[in-house]
Amino acid sequence: MIDKGLSMIPVPIQIQINKNLTKALKVVAKILPFPKPTLFSGPDSSIEMCESIALMDNKKILVVTDAMLLKLGVLDNILATFDKHGVGYTVFDGVKPDPTFDQVQAGLSLLKKDRCNAVLAVGGGSSIDTAKMVAALATNEKPILKLSGFFKIFHPILPLYAIPTTAGTGSEVSVGAVVSDPKTHQKFAFMDPKLIPQIAALDGKLMLGLPPMGTAATGMDALTHAIEAYISKMATDDTDDYAIAAVKLIMHNLPIAVKDGKNLEARQNMALASYYAGLAFTKANLGYVHAISHNFGAYYHTPHGIGNAIVLPYVLDYSRDAVEDQLAHLADVSGLKTGSETKRQLSKKLIEHIRSMLDDFGISQKLEALKEEDIPGIAKAALKEAHFTYAVPKHMSQAACESLIRKMSP
Ligand SMILES: NC(=O)c1ccc[n+]([C@@H]2O[C@H](COP(=O)([O-])OP(=O)(O)OC[C@H]3O[C@@H](n4cnc5c(N)ncnc54)[C@H](O)[C@@H]3O)[C@@H](O)[C@H]2O)c1
Ligand SMILES: [Fe+2]
Repeated sequence: MIDKGLSMIPVPIQIQINKNLTKALKVVAKILPFPKPTLFSGPDSSIEMCESIALMDNKKILVVTDAMLLKLGVLDNILATFDKHGVGYTVFDGVKPDPTFDQVQAGLSLLKKDRCNAVLAVGGGSSIDTAKMVAALATNEKPILKLSGFFKIFHPILPLYAIPTTAGTGSEVSVGAVVSDPKTHQKFAFMDPKLIPQIAALDGKLMLGLPPMGTAATGMDALTHAIEAYISKMATDDTDDYAIAAVKLIMHNLPIAVKDGKNLEARQNMALASYYAGLAFTKANLGYVHAISHNFGAYYHTPHGIGNAIVLPYVLDYSRDAVEDQLAHLADVSGLKTGSETKRQLSKKLIEHIRSMLDDFGISQKLEALKEEDIPGIAKAALKEAHFTYAVPKHMSQAACESLIRKMSP
């Protein structure tokens, strides 16, 4: 729970930019070729990637992960590969969901103590984001808050490799990292192309043990990335291609992966979908769904994917008339077109389909924790984030945002 006594209005994503800079960023995003990680993909690709890393001239690698993954044995083959090839490493397993500055600091201290000169993230978005900031702070010796916002990372970061174990955040390809202040629980975004990992592996085998609700939540995060990027005013032909491919893969594979977690093909396809959605949103950016959901996270610790899943249909209802063509096209590529429906009908069909997916996954469309007295503050912070960061297709006023959030009251 956020400490409202200390912070009058919680602003979960602190990005101090003005509207002119936002316009400039839209231009930059269109013309700037963001680097993509060298990619290993397929079952056991994480092992191939580690064999490749073994060829590099790293003294010692800091492996950043969470204790649960270590206990589940998700890292066993990865560490055995390093052992086999004589690669030195130290494991930092202090990451918790929604990582905080002190976790980054603890990882950085271990990196310095053990003289590591490269960082490997193995885990969900929380582990990858922590690893990004450890690698950034190792070469940019500043208080972490000085690096928050856009393009604040001056020096190249340490070599960074990423192996996602959830198919959701796309952090293995994105320019971003999200880390919270442990005292206020405010989330801070760090956005810089230097944070894009150098090498990544999409290995569906590592995801076979992710429970159904974790699979559904992270998959809905990936779907939200794809849809928000597709309807963003910063979308380009390039980001549209990735967003459409991600939506196609998610609509077909997410229900299978939730129902049958051991289905390797569905897991591998979801890993690719999440990566594609990451490629789309890292350039085209996000929208009101993430802005509101980030605040649910700040106020109530709502997991990121669950927050997005709840908010997504409501924001699509609100924006539908402004993005009817795009939503109709996404319905078509999702296989929802059965005859000669109009675009209006198809766009509504997509939203209804998302609602029925949530029902199937057992994700409520109401937020149990939501309190009426918090709604104005949540709306204000969400609009601040959205209007200073995202190129939303239809503007939302404070009153509209409050009434949209009120619909999610239990
Ligand atoms: N950098 C970005 O571009 C970006 C984008 C979206 C979200 N995020 C951030 O990512 C974080 C959320 O990441 P996430 O949703 O991937 O979850 P996570 O990393 O927080 O992990 C959630 C839980 O799932 C468990 N888990 C992960 N993989 C597993 C596996 N294969 N088997 C069993 N258990 C597994 C973890 O141990 C943990 O308990 C949030 O902090 C969010 O703000 C970052
Ligand atoms: Fe997200």
